[in-house]
Amino acid sequence: MTKIAVMGHGVVGSGTVELFLRNRDMINRKNKLDLELGYILDIRDFPGLPYSDKFTKSIDDILNDDDVKIVAEVMGGLKYAYGFVKQCLEHGKSVVTSNKELVAEKGAELLKTAKEHGCNFLFEASTGGAIPIIRPLHRCLAGNDITAVAGILNGTTNFILTKMINENMQLDEALSLAQRLGYAEKDPTADIEGHDACRKICILSSLVFGRHVYPKWVYCEGITKITAEDVRYADAWGGAVKLIGFVKKLPDGKILPEVRPAFVCRANQLSYIDDVFNGIMVYGDGFDQVMFYGRGAGKFPTASAVLGDIIDAAKMKSTSVSQTWEDSADNSFIEDHLDAEISMYVRMDGAKREDIESIFNTPEFLSCENAPENEIAFITPKMQERLIDEKLGECGGNVLGRIMVLDL
Ligand code: HSE
Repeated sequence: MTKIAVMGHGVVGSGTVELFLRNRDMINRKNKLDLELGYILDIRDFPGLPYSDKFTKSIDDILNDDDVKIVAEVMGGLKYAYGFVKQCLEHGKSVVTSNKELVAEKGAELLKTAKEHGCNFLFEASTGGAIPIIRPLHRCLAGNDITAVAGILNGTTNFILTKMINENMQLDEALSLAQRLGYAEKDPTADIEGHDACRKICILSSLVFGRHVYPKWVYCEGITKITAEDVRYADAWGGAVKLIGFVKKLPDGKILPEVRPAFVCRANQLSYIDDVFNGIMVYGDGFDQVMFYGRGAGKFPTASAVLGDIIDAAKMKSTSVSQTWEDSADNSFIEDHLDAEISMYVRMDGAKREDIESIFNTPEFLSCENAPENEIAFITPKMQERLIDEKLGECGGNVLGRIMVLDL
């Protein structure tokens, strides 16, 4: 018998236990395993559950039981999770986690610890919820030069943007609904300010490019400045506003990872991904592009990925050689986003159309029904972002909205 332990009995933890118990016999039969629920670690009491006898408040019960070979960390945050995970790995127990923050901040270190102790640190559930993306990147697509990854990586903000676009909801109203449905982080700032998506693009960037990309090195902008007006202009332009996490490889070998709202044209399938769904496009030399789509948040979708990793960990005989990356001493391999060339949607008032035309040299002006008379919206030609900012300063008037146009 191989015991599994689950650390944290919140939304994802309870989902993991319920899904495991529901499907345990099938899982064991199909995979020729003998997995059993050993412990659930939580400081809270959960009387009356069919598995109440499995709860413990002490990590030592897990560490000292040699039958526990796999531990699922679904507590979130770093405070307790980091120490607990490190100890489990040091005891030779494989750890699977849905904790984006843990992987984005401590991934290189924990992968090294797992290797040193002959076990695995797996994190399919950390990015894209139920969507398989970690494994495809380092296995199925491993024969390619992957040049870019771009995705809608946060279900809560995609849900909010969809409700704002389709149902005229205000941001707060849509956020409360997302929280009630269990999509949002404990502190929803991490969702709406883009930190959650940033952690996920850090994980994908690290995996694809082999060097740890820390969140503090990544330009990150959330959705709090997005207005109904900008959303309408995106529609009139022929696209949608989406919060995009992306990373691309540049000709000089540097990489450019960012999280920010973007105008996404209708030719790009990401523009059609709505509600809590996530979508991730991967670009590479052999396959051109592939898209991964599915539920990126919520109790059972995330539990599905946790459980997949538990089963994989149970089958693996040694540490994965491909699901790993090295630590990075500095960020010299990361491009400053202001130096990257982009097109930008801009909405202004108090500026003259002829001035904008001469300063930006052939911007594409946009029109939108019921726009105020003194408002001008346009798409700049492609140029360095710092140059766009300089030129906007020369236009006079006020910048009411500025959103990157996605172009990979
Ligand atoms: N708050 C996250 C989201 C949960 O909305 O996508 C899944 O990581």
